[in-house]
Amino acid sequence: MSQARIAVIGGTAMNEWPGFEAAGARDVDTPWGAPSAPLQSGRFADTPVIFLARHGPGHHIPPHRINFRANMHALAEAGVTRVIAVAAVGSMLDAFPPGHIALPDDVVDYTWGRSHSFSDSADAPLQHIDFTVPFDPLRGRLIALAGAEEGRHDGGVLAVTQGPRLETAAEVRRLVKDGCGMVGMTTMPEAALARELGLEYAVVTVCVNWAAGMGSGDIHGEIAEHAARGMARLRDHLSAVLPRLS
Ligand code: HPA
Repeated sequence: MSQARIAVIGGTAMNEWPGFEAAGARDVDTPWGAPSAPLQSGRFADTPVIFLARHGPGHHIPPHRINFRANMHALAEAGVTRVIAVAAVGSMLDAFPPGHIALPDDVVDYTWGRSHSFSDSADAPLQHIDFTVPFDPLRGRLIALAGAEEGRHDGGVLAVTQGPRLETAAEVRRLVKDGCGMVGMTTMPEAALARELGLEYAVVTVCVNWAAGMGSGDIHGEIAEHAARGMARLRDHLSAVLPRLS
């Protein structure tokens, strides 16, 4: 395994990471079970990095079945201290259309039934992590290091829903009333587990569709049309920031 201390977790539309030069892959096990996929070590934009495909090889693991504890434990054991998580989202914000990326600054967790803490047995230390600000200052650095970029937004509240189905129009209206601006399915409990482990964690969201009831009425058509543009923007952003993260 390389000395990389940065990990990138790829989500839907980033099961593979174009531009990532893989040098090796390692199957690991953890007290919480196996992570979604082997940890791949390699380089992106000449920067050592570990890549983990959140949905597994071939994108077969649905959001509610991801072993988030194993994923985060495996990264920490591999010496990772900084995690840049990528998540596809639907947007409820006019200013954040499909094809754009954002670094949200807050989260509302609507998921249920997921193993969401390492404080889960009598012999594990009970932690009440401070989650007032769910993303690490790494978030601000990822914005500042990239400079002005068209189609990249600073902030927004990310709703995390259970999936794998998309939301109803009424559910999306409720998310908007709750103050959310975008919706995805995987940032929780991932962000909280990262905090429990003391990892720096920030998420870059890629908008691939308008949230249910807010767009053309053809969500899958929107995803087919816009996901590639969003992913290209994400690649540009990561190329700009990864070499500058010391
Ligand atoms: N809702 C939830 N998760 C998503 C969406 C959405 O509209 N698009 C991509 N991931």
